[in-house]
Amino acid sequence: MPKGNLFSGIQPSGRLHIGNYVGAMRNMIALQDDYQCIYGIVDYHAMTVPFKPEEMETRIFNCAVDYLAAGIDPNKSILMLQSTVSEHTELAWILNTITPISWLMRVPTFKEKRQQNPDYVNMGLLDYPVLMAADIILYKSVIVPVGEDQLPHLELTREIVRKFNAYFGETFPEPKEYLGKVTKILGLDGVNKMSKSLDNCIYLDEDEETIWKKLSTAVTDTNRKRRTDPGNPELCNIYTMHLAFSKEEDIDYCARECRSAGFGCLDCKKILLQNLYATLKPIQERQKELRNKPDYIYEVLRSGTIRAKRIARSTMEEVYEKLGIKKFHQ
Ligand code: AMP
Ligand code: TRP
Repeated sequence: MPKGNLFSGIQPSGRLHIGNYVGAMRNMIALQDDYQCIYGIVDYHAMTVPFKPEEMETRIFNCAVDYLAAGIDPNKSILMLQSTVSEHTELAWILNTITPISWLMRVPTFKEKRQQNPDYVNMGLLDYPVLMAADIILYKSVIVPVGEDQLPHLELTREIVRKFNAYFGETFPEPKEYLGKVTKILGLDGVNKMSKSLDNCIYLDEDEETIWKKLSTAVTDTNRKRRTDPGNPELCNIYTMHLAFSKEEDIDYCARECRSAGFGCLDCKKILLQNLYATLKPIQERQKELRNKPDYIYEVLRSGTIRAKRIARSTMEEVYEKLGIKKFHQ
């Protein structure tokens, strides 16, 4: 018996990077045996920033391929495209009516995106966390596997749940975050979060040579100016990547050699490359296979829509009952 439902989502905003994999995907895969998982390609969220409609289909397709190649099993989990289950926006509207604007104005991602795209500050951007709350509670999720950057959104989801339950009666559980041992990977710049929009990523589908080019110039502990200076692994993003991808013995070895200036950063990066690529190679092989099976991918998504809608509809019936308008929804 599953321990409950869970929803998590990834935006189809390009190729997935190793931050997505470590922060979210790996836990999504691990939770498949214990929960009824619903995994969304959240296209409505991706529309809150400027996008090209002619690229959307490919982005969604690639996102589905990445989910499956990384290890999401459609026999266990539901893989769906958010905009094909209209209950997401249906519930979001209702949640909108109980969410104070002041709560949304203080969300860190809103403030960031507003700075990044000052000419594109739309209602959807402000409302983004409400739609995310709807995604999560539509399936009465009890936990949500995400990276660290999503924690403010989850806190807001819980606040919305509390308010709904207080106004209309106990309906939704309060979802908890489910974090992995590495919750945030920085970009190659070593300063900002690894993020598609900042062009500082290592992508899941990159070959060894490309990854090496990126790794070899990636920023490490900036206090280690010379090869002979001892470094501090705790201040180094390459070490964080080791924690996420490397064998225990390699992690210990690299930490020791770094602290004692026993080796240079390039030696450390070479060991990381081997471990990282050992994880990526089988994923890339499956990506190649799946890209040649578009019919299969579309079928997985179609069936995901049907299965997700069944759960979503039943939640909405309960919501309309709580709101006093059930009679009109039968
Ligand atoms: P997004 O690509 O923004 O749709 O993110 C999808 C998932 O990946 C979310 O759970 C994020 O928290 C997670 N994620 C994105 N970037 C990173 C990162 N640099 N480190 C860890 N997790 C991340
Ligand atoms: N906001 C998430 C991100 O950018 C994507 C997302 C949308 C999500 N809905 C969700 C994550 C529901 C978890 C649960 O990464």
